[in-house]
Amino acid sequence: MKTIENATLSKKEIGKKVELYGWVAKRRNLGGLLFIDLRDRSGIVQLVVRPEDSCYSVAETLRNEYVIRCVGTVAARENPNEKLKTGEIEILLEEMELLNTSLELPFEISEETTALEDTRLKYRYLDLRRNRLQENLKLRHQVTMATRKFLDQEGFLEIETPILCKSTPEGARDYLVPSRVNEGKFYALPQSPQIFKQLLMVGGMEKYFQIAKCFRDEDLRADRQPEFTQIDIEMSFVEENDVMSLGERLVAKIFKEVKNIDIALPLRRMKYDDAMDTYGSDKPDLRFGMEIQDVTSLFEKTEVSFLKSSIEEGGIINAIVAKNCQDKYSRKEIDKLTEFVKTYRASGLIYLKLEEELTGSIAKVLSDSEKEAIIKNLSLEKGDIAFLVSGPRNIVKTSLGALRLRLGRELNLIDNNRYELLWVVDFPSFEYSEEEGRYVACHHPFTSPKDEDVDKLIHDKAHCYSKAYDIVINGYEAGGGSIRIHDQQVQATMFEALGLTEEEIEEKFGFFVDALKYGTPPHGGMAFGLDRMVMLLSGTENIRDVIAFPKTASASCLMSEAPNLVAPKQLEELHISLRK
Ligand code: AMO
Repeated sequence: MKTIENATLSKKEIGKKVELYGWVAKRRNLGGLLFIDLRDRSGIVQLVVRPEDSCYSVAETLRNEYVIRCVGTVAARENPNEKLKTGEIEILLEEMELLNTSLELPFEISEETTALEDTRLKYRYLDLRRNRLQENLKLRHQVTMATRKFLDQEGFLEIETPILCKSTPEGARDYLVPSRVNEGKFYALPQSPQIFKQLLMVGGMEKYFQIAKCFRDEDLRADRQPEFTQIDIEMSFVEENDVMSLGERLVAKIFKEVKNIDIALPLRRMKYDDAMDTYGSDKPDLRFGMEIQDVTSLFEKTEVSFLKSSIEEGGIINAIVAKNCQDKYSRKEIDKLTEFVKTYRASGLIYLKLEEELTGSIAKVLSDSEKEAIIKNLSLEKGDIAFLVSGPRNIVKTSLGALRLRLGRELNLIDNNRYELLWVVDFPSFEYSEEEGRYVACHHPFTSPKDEDVDKLIHDKAHCYSKAYDIVINGYEAGGGSIRIHDQQVQATMFEALGLTEEEIEEKFGFFVDALKYGTPPHGGMAFGLDRMVMLLSGTENIRDVIAFPKTASASCLMSEAPNLVAPKQLEELHISLRK
């Protein structure tokens, strides 16, 4: 059995005989001497084979990724390699056994690989040999271990919940699994264990957690996978502050154990409305400023017709200021930014540059007093550009929020070594869906409204706020949760508010509503996106980098070729016929 992690060898072991296993990362022949970089999970160590050594003939046949066992003595290197952890030593070989050969590789296993991601995903088992991916998976392991340890100490029980479920309404589309023995019926894979963890509270388990696999058939992005993992938590007899306190202590523990970073607690909190106002996002990245500023009042008497009508229609005018960057944004670049904000449904992008005087898209039609007010209110200095959007509040906020993030990146305003964590709290219970022409739940329908807002569930949805909270790290939603409704009457009102009929409630949640009638304790919880958390800790922006076998943006696995066609017999057994 392999007992040594190759890269732990150091000067301390000089003179010691060691047995090593691993993969050949590189082989060089320098004047007859063979130098082999041997790689294992811990890193690289250099082996040396001299022409007179008995293993020379085997060593000569080695190619990259051949697997070997060898025995040799640790020796000091004549020319240490500072870049390598084991750079001060090398192993003078006495014995070598070839354990396996390898075909020529489809791409070189190197840290700065230029291979296309599709190729690396097809040969994921080779890509996993790269140090970066191994480090990421190690980090993932450390995060789950720290989580388990912490929650165990806090009195939580790790309990598994089913994977073959009845569909739960989390907002995304379900993955369905046909039942062979129940013709025409389907299981849904859980979008989260939400209902089950609440039922565990009804079942008196009091403190539950699970490292839970979740499945959502939704449009994928760089930070989303169709199957992902949550650190899922639920607690009985708690209020918002209790869950948030536990959640932030868990995060602080993880940051300390895994990265040795101290997170100051309690984390700052920001109301959802303030986050949207100031950052145009419910997950603000606080690593840089460039806050959104309301300048509507400066245009109250404006003669600029499109701004005037925008205000008359109840719209707003907001601005962000990019400091000292005029030379970076030519007309052409600003056209690109305009196209960008239009993808967020903004009607256009106004820009104003402060040069000797105020110039830019509407500078000619502004009155002198308007110009003066803009310069003063936005504290513009020479070299600054102000970007303005007018229109309905929602569109103005989200488009400027997105532009803020883009400018933050383009202008290198974001310090990637910094972590900014916060809670976003007091989410609205409902959001208006223009598509559906009605209010829909912001979170799942078991989220408790604020005590003072229960009466607004039916008649004043726009002003009904919930006991929901999200934890945001560097502009990512790392987790979220809420206090749940434990009162069956409030739950019934919530369903009514969402426009569900008695039949729909019975059909979708009958068993759950029944359970609420049997002494349900007050309870609440949250779930962290484990993949996202590891992504943030490892400094990658690609969630696939922290998942051993991830899926592509079209939800397929390039290695195993899932999803695939199945045999007609399998479909027949499942009582399924495919439409041509
Ligand atoms: P929510 O839907 O907010 O809440 O999910 C919790 C966290 O899971 C992560 N996440 C994802 N990560 C990767 N890929 C995805 N497709 C994906 N979707 C979500 C995010 C998110 O913050 N049951 C509730 C939690 C609760 O109320 O206790 C829930 O699932 O980091």
